[in-house]
Amino acid sequence: MTAKRLITITDVEVVREKGGAALEVPSGAIVTPLARDAARRLGVALAPAGKRERPALVFGNWKANGTLAQARRLAREVALGWCGSGAPLGPRRAALALFPPLVHVAAVSEALAGTSIALGAQDLSEKGGGAFTGGVTAEMLADIGCRYALVGHSERRREFGDADDVVAAKLRRALAAGLEPVLCVGETLEERDAARTHAVLRGQTLAAFDGLSAEQAARVVVAYEPVWAIGTGLTPSLSDAEDAMASIKDHLARKFGDEVAGGARVLYGGSVAAENAARFLALASCDGALVGGASLKAREFLTIAGAPA
Ligand code: 13P
Repeated sequence: MTAKRLITITDVEVVREKGGAALEVPSGAIVTPLARDAARRLGVALAPAGKRERPALVFGNWKANGTLAQARRLAREVALGWCGSGAPLGPRRAALALFPPLVHVAAVSEALAGTSIALGAQDLSEKGGGAFTGGVTAEMLADIGCRYALVGHSERRREFGDADDVVAAKLRRALAAGLEPVLCVGETLEERDAARTHAVLRGQTLAAFDGLSAEQAARVVVAYEPVWAIGTGLTPSLSDAEDAMASIKDHLARKFGDEVAGGARVLYGGSVAAENAARFLALASCDGALVGGASLKAREFLTIAGAPA
């Protein structure tokens, strides 16, 4: 059976008339702009088919926190809670990864050995190996067991001056070393107030993906992190978050085609907590969460990971 290729306003209205809340969009199908508007207006979520089968990615970015002993303990607590023989923690349809400070990665790797929890680095050098004092290359990260690496986190952009060209170079280094980069994009409060959110997301996304093949693009995870929501307890409305993540997928669809966009993994990050995680994870375009502060508490991080409905 061939999948339906065009989703129109009628499809949305039919779902609504039947009292449904979601319309499954087959991979490769095109949603007309009118259908997208109607879905928004009528409160019908456009869910990529297959999203429900894919595990939600729940990533913990520990940032620059903790001693070696604390890192070991936190990793052990998360590992035990997630994989141990204790009480079941929710439906377990998440895939977890921890992003400790670089100096603790090896110790956390030991603590996670034999579990399904993956490891990630918070940053990497845009340079290769050699005479680059202080640099940590993508190959070194892959060699010590990292699967993922964050690139372009707003704290790197703001505090360390990582501009779009540096972010793009890091992303390429990560891909070349076999890592899965997690590209962080998001608008500042000023940009939001100036109604520039979509322009910023477009600019950051296209600058990072420029020149990649579809095969490379498919290995990149994108995290939408509104800068003003990071560490503040503030979060965007669910419809603003959905709009932002859907727009990132639209850019990927235009650049690499519907297959890459349909398989793309876009996470939400910014004050994710046990109380709000399930609502973000349920959004049609949301494939997971990038958690900062709440990932420093094993119980809360596990609750977030157990949240996907
Ligand atoms: P918080 O969850 O502490 O807001 O941090 C989000 C973040 O920056 C994750 O990368």
